[in-house]
Amino acid sequence: MTPQADDQVICIIGAGYVGLVTAAGLAEAGRQVKVVEVDADRRAAVAAGISPIFEPGLDELLSAVVASGHLRAVETMSAGVAGAGIVIVAVGTPPTHDGEADLSQVRQAVDQALGEVAPGAVIAIKSTVPPGTTRALARGSSRKDVAFVMFPEFLREGSALEDLRHPSRVVVGGEDMAAVRRVAALLGGPDTTRLLCDSVSAELVKYGSNAFLATKISFINEMAQLCELTGADIEHVADGMGLDPRIGRSFLSAGLGWGGSCFPKDVRALETSAGYHGQSFWLLKAAIEVNSQQRRRFTAKLLQGLGGSLEGRRVAILGLAFKPFTDDMRQAPALEVVRQLEDLGAIVVATDPVALARARPLLPGTSLVDDPYDAVTGADAVGLVTEWPVYRELDWGRVFAQMRGRLVVDGRNCLDSRAITGRGGIYVSMGRRTRGLPETTPGSASEAATASVPPVPLG
Ligand code: UDX
Ligand code: UDX
Repeated sequence: MTPQADDQVICIIGAGYVGLVTAAGLAEAGRQVKVVEVDADRRAAVAAGISPIFEPGLDELLSAVVASGHLRAVETMSAGVAGAGIVIVAVGTPPTHDGEADLSQVRQAVDQALGEVAPGAVIAIKSTVPPGTTRALARGSSRKDVAFVMFPEFLREGSALEDLRHPSRVVVGGEDMAAVRRVAALLGGPDTTRLLCDSVSAELVKYGSNAFLATKISFINEMAQLCELTGADIEHVADGMGLDPRIGRSFLSAGLGWGGSCFPKDVRALETSAGYHGQSFWLLKAAIEVNSQQRRRFTAKLLQGLGGSLEGRRVAILGLAFKPFTDDMRQAPALEVVRQLEDLGAIVVATDPVALARARPLLPGTSLVDDPYDAVTGADAVGLVTEWPVYRELDWGRVFAQMRGRLVVDGRNCLDSRAITGRGGIYVSMGRRTRGLPETTPGSASEAATASVPPVPLG
């Protein structure tokens, strides 16, 4: 007898950055959660209550919900979907060669689930899929007793548990509103804003959100370039712009630009999808190009700072993960930067607090060390790529004692320029003037001239 669909029982397909965090959060909320994961090592880690990914707080939570029996890792789809009222699909949707989202994992997971899932269950697509996908999956399904909805995720790596426990919004889209409401009840609390709509709109909420944030970052990076050309300071410009509540200060940090598993693939997928529908999404094309050139601009600063040649020069790269508080190396700016530096003949030594294991196979010819002070030993220049707090706390006196040169290029405008110039270093950043050069050098700025004056509260 097939167990009836019960919304207290949730199946999640894919124990990735999104699926696993969602599973742990739902289990913490008291649901019975089963995770179906094809990767045996990942499945074994989850079964042992150990997180296979670095996400703050996930280890502790996973251990607790596995111990309490609220979360189980299962091997087969039938074990996973048995009795489940809602099946969440959170498998990968990597870009194909032309940028479109590869839906093969989603289709395979859905096909397997449909063969086993209980009547009346709902399949919720959490993987980011092109507009029209959820509706097409529903129309192509032989199981008319199973509804499909789009259930996009808005989790930022490094703060994913917080984003899950306190979602800024819950969006669910589908053509069966009863199914939409069942899924919408999974997350958030009485004060959470919920948007219930059709599936195509929900799909585009996801793509539109990521693409807009990515475009906002590329916009401030273009402004940073103009700041360098005019002698302005992008941090002041971003602060001033961000004071407008319609703009907001978040996602206005200039630097190496966006990486990660979502922005790059989602922006390209949206641009490609628009193309399939006959639209040239020019803003996205520009945002993508600006983002690529930020890596080149950073590399150029190191090249120029070392006199126009990197041949045989040692460059220490601080930070490899695509952003702090994660070990995720997918589309990390560091990968392009290291490759560019090595193509120009530099000897690169790189470090990261948590991402070395994932970085090693991706950078086979690059020396990777745990300790940042080892990384800077003998270096002609230091390049800050990921804004881990540990690099803001470095003892720059010790750094310059161990370096051969004194150039520091800050790709995330996160270091304390005074601490660097105060010990004889030259501080170069993104969208601000160089500091630490002799006053007479064109384009340099004294610390005093560019000191940011904290806003004086008026009134
Ligand atoms: C994924 C999608 O890539 C992203 O578009 C969406 O926004 C959220 O879900 P992420 O969790 O980062 O993001 O993907 P990934 O880290 O690649 O995890 C996917 C997991 O699914 C992997 O562990 C993979 O082994 C597993 N998987 C894949 C299955 O268990 N079954 C499959 O058939 C395919
Ligand atoms: C993003 C979205 O924020 C999240 O809602 C979605 O579900 C998944 O994708 P994530 O990729 O984890 O989350 O990281 P996020 O914090 O958004 O940063 C994305 C990239 O933009 C990072 O490479 C970061 O370094 C960069 N970034 C962010 C900037 O360059 N400047 C900024 O001001 C903010």
